[in-house]
Amino acid sequence: MEYSTIIEPFRIHTVQAIDLPDAERREAALQRAGYNLFGLNADEVIIDLLTDSGTGAMSSQQWAGMMLGDESYAGSRSFRRFESVVQDLTGFSEVIPTHQGRAAEKILFESMVNEGDVVPNNTHFDTTRANVEYQGAEARDLVIAAGTDPSAIHLFKGNMDIGRLRASVEEVGAGRVPFVMVTVTNNSGGGQPVSMANLRAVREVCDEYDIPFILDACRFAENAWFIHLREDGYADTDAGTIAREMFSLADGCTMSAKKDGLANIGGFIALNDGELAARCRNLLILTEGFSTYGGLAGYDLEAVATGLEEVLDENYLRYRIRSTQYLADKIANADVPIVQPPGGHAVYIDAAAMLPHIPAHEYPAQALAVELYRRGGVRGVEIGTVMFGRPRDDAPDDTAAMELVRLAIPRRTYTQSHIDYVAEVVIDVAGRRADLGGYRIVSQAPWLRHFTARFEPLGE
Ligand code: F0G
Repeated sequence: MEYSTIIEPFRIHTVQAIDLPDAERREAALQRAGYNLFGLNADEVIIDLLTDSGTGAMSSQQWAGMMLGDESYAGSRSFRRFESVVQDLTGFSEVIPTHQGRAAEKILFESMVNEGDVVPNNTHFDTTRANVEYQGAEARDLVIAAGTDPSAIHLFKGNMDIGRLRASVEEVGAGRVPFVMVTVTNNSGGGQPVSMANLRAVREVCDEYDIPFILDACRFAENAWFIHLREDGYADTDAGTIAREMFSLADGCTMSAKKDGLANIGGFIALNDGELAARCRNLLILTEGFSTYGGLAGYDLEAVATGLEEVLDENYLRYRIRSTQYLADKIANADVPIVQPPGGHAVYIDAAAMLPHIPAHEYPAQALAVELYRRGGVRGVEIGTVMFGRPRDDAPDDTAAMELVRLAIPRRTYTQSHIDYVAEVVIDVAGRRADLGGYRIVSQAPWLRHFTARFEPLGE
């Protein structure tokens, strides 16, 4: 008979101890860090859900592959393997390794984006937005309306609003849109998938106006699995075939292999345009390294190549998406408001709904993230006005579209009891919601302020 429990499809082979800092140590850590969870030391954290990026466990196949790493400066065997895996997966002929996703963004955008341009995306992630803006261009988010409404139920909340995309291109002129980007899954919008039909519609708009289409492919495998589960016509198609179809609709991609590459470091740009790739490689050599290693060791290239193959395993993807849903269901059943349906790599708590007494410019999601750490040593990340708002002179911040706390789940790392503990902490904090107060920022950087800002609780 078939049993319904979906087990972790792996055995644990190597373990790392988790420290269990007590409440007093956590409080001291918070004060030292200026209530910014990026300032904590990892051994001050019990369950670390800050990010799913580079924090996963590698398989024994990946570790074994690392021993085969060819560290030749130019033309290493490990690069040729990496290149062939990426070519086979994406169908793109030009493969440019980078040390992580943002390096791919920096190089591609510097090669394609001019001052005054507009780059549409469903929702730019923080580094993607910052890298567009760093080129003097506008990063424009055009996700469908349901994508910014945490409680709206839609199977593909990451979809691009095709009407607004077309209107944007008409408004600024195709000549000022260097490419259209779509992020799969849509991380800043709740880890929500994009449908194949929507990718096809973006492709049509790009063809009509002769604009390249670039995928931000960090979580391509999770997106492919959602298409398999939810989109008409794909129930019998495997994740690899779906992923290849997704890539076939685009002209290129940027990738952080720290997510669906199942590696601790790595990334790439993949393109069909040889001339553009040559420009990217020139910049790559300036800042990352020669074009056959791009800031990575040969053994990293091996780990990513194997990871890209493993991530499309159906048993892995079924467990991955189901285990995220498990946390979501547990806390939603206790009336904790979350972005519904849950995303692939993370559960996003809707802090604006949970803490209506804290206005957005007093950072309700920051307040919630701090409290989850204070009470239970669980580290999530604010995705709200701290991350995406703007300071204004003599006025409260411009606020973000949503106030979320993301609990990102590292791949193949935590077991069900870790997740049960997280749910217990979240539900406990939700029960004390009335006691939580807002924060103010006492120092911040001119961009990507969330990494280093310092806070003070209001009313102190
Ligand atoms: N694009 C998306 C959608 C991302 O989520 C990230 C990273 C990047 C690009 C940049 O990749 O970190 O390798 O330079 N997201 C991580 C996160 C940091 O926590 O969501 P990177």
